[in-house]
Amino acid sequence: MTMHGLFISFEGIDGAGKSTHISGLADAFSAQGRAVTLTREPGGTPLAEKLRAMVLGDAMDPLTEALLIFAARRDHLVNVIAPALVRGDVVLCDRFTDATFAYQGGGRGFDLDLLSTLEQWVQSDEGLLGDPAGNSPMKPEVETVIEPHLTVWFDLPPEAAAVRLAGARLPDKFESQPLEFFRKVAQGYADRQRGHPERFARIDASQTRDAVWQAVRQVVVAKGWLS
Ligand code: TMP
Repeated sequence: MTMHGLFISFEGIDGAGKSTHISGLADAFSAQGRAVTLTREPGGTPLAEKLRAMVLGDAMDPLTEALLIFAARRDHLVNVIAPALVRGDVVLCDRFTDATFAYQGGGRGFDLDLLSTLEQWVQSDEGLLGDPAGNSPMKPEVETVIEPHLTVWFDLPPEAAAVRLAGARLPDKFESQPLEFFRKVAQGYADRQRGHPERFARIDASQTRDAVWQAVRQVVVAKGWLS
């Protein structure tokens, strides 16, 4: 079974303004006859949403936080993302593993090598499409690490994001972090882009909403995925 769908993730610091553009792209793909799976991380399954509530609501040490996020990711991959990619859907995911490198790695200073190990382990396609033990005939000959085909990164200076967030809904554990934390998260995203230039598309999120939308749409059109 091959995963012939399209996997696109969306990243940026809190306040970067991803949401309207993700739903805009979902509408654009649907209008061209593509089945769309719209989802988010942490979350996307009943179990992963429970883990999300813990991660965003409770104080915990950095390793516990990273493990819960990757546990949520595995459940999401097994139950939502991999089946959708096998069906041939366009999967639009509001945040994925780059957020872990930016927030837990950059923001919290968590060990990047350990995050890479967890990434390889959790995103391996072994056992994803077969039984959980990985014993099924669908066990892949060569193990592949599932990652997005494209990551749209909404890059906004942390100072501008803070202005946008001020007065918004009650901030969660991350949104209430000081500016310095978001400077490190933004640096985490920049480092991640440097490591994966072929996958990342950087969007200047300080432009008007319409200009940002045009830029996002253009990235996907240039890939030949939307006309
Ligand atoms: P959201 O508000 O964009 O849905 O994201 C939830 C929060 O969780 C956001 O502040 C970023 C944070 N987060 C992490 O710290 N690590 C991760 O791996 C992910 C996916 C999100």
